Amino acid sequence: MQKDEIYKRKLKKISTFRFNKEVACAFDDMVNRSVPLYKGLQNLLAKLAVHFHKPDKIIYDLGCATGETLYKIAKNKPKKVEIRMVGMDLSPHMLKVAQYKCSNFPEINFVEEDTLKADIVNPGVVILTYVLHFFEIKKRKALLSKIFNSLETGGVALISEKIHCNELEKDFMKLHDLFKIEHRYSKLEIKQKKKALEKSLTPLSYEENKKMIHDCGFQTVETFFQCLNFCGFIAIK
Ligand SMILES: C[S@@+](CC[C@H](N)C(=O)[O-])C[C@H]1O[C@@H](n2cnc3c(N)ncnc32)[C@H](O)[C@@H]1O
Repeated sequence: MQKDEIYKRKLKKISTFRFNKEVACAFDDMVNRSVPLYKGLQNLLAKLAVHFHKPDKIIYDLGCATGETLYKIAKNKPKKVEIRMVGMDLSPHMLKVAQYKCSNFPEINFVEEDTLKADIVNPGVVILTYVLHFFEIKKRKALLSKIFNSLETGGVALISEKIHCNELEKDFMKLHDLFKIEHRYSKLEIKQKKKALEKSLTPLSYEENKKMIHDCGFQTVETFFQCLNFCGFIAIK
């Protein structure tokens, strides 16, 4: 795993954040050092996915990045449970890392596709972790509706998002910065990365996310995870 030093030096121009080769190579280090309880969330997602998995159905991870969630599922599931998995991502660089990480697990199939356009065939569980907040609102709704329509009754979506916390936003942001400092990011790195993400990541509030998921058809929407301004929703058809 490469160390994330992308924003370490002072940059003349800060371009909008992209999931390019540089980011893919350092992604696992970056996400563990910049997203509170990332590892804990991944462990929980793997447990939830196995719990809600139905025989003959497929577990999808849309925007799978380096394949961490599917890797955890494959590694920790009971041996007797057979699960087919599809990891989908637009970034060939992310998928290269994912394929390498999961090379011992032939039950995982990685596909380079735009999740907004691709068909989701025979899903039982659909995972979307820290992906929706990069899309414009209309596209978030279109994707959630497509997921809802592709699931059978009882099918599950696990949706994790960075959220906007109306009243405590400033406090949570400060604590989030502190988390990054504790994980050896400098103030300059934090500032430059924030600037890069400014135009590409738009969080909704907890309530807005919950309403959006309900509006796309899901009857049951509960929270399975929250740490500061990061939240995981479980939605059941
Ligand atoms: C923050 S990362 C996701 C992290 C990952 N889900 C995890 O649990 O570690 C966002 C990912 O979404 C992918 N992505 C963005 N837009 C996409 C799209 N339209 N279709 C497929 N993947 C997309 C990016 O390439 C990137 O790998």
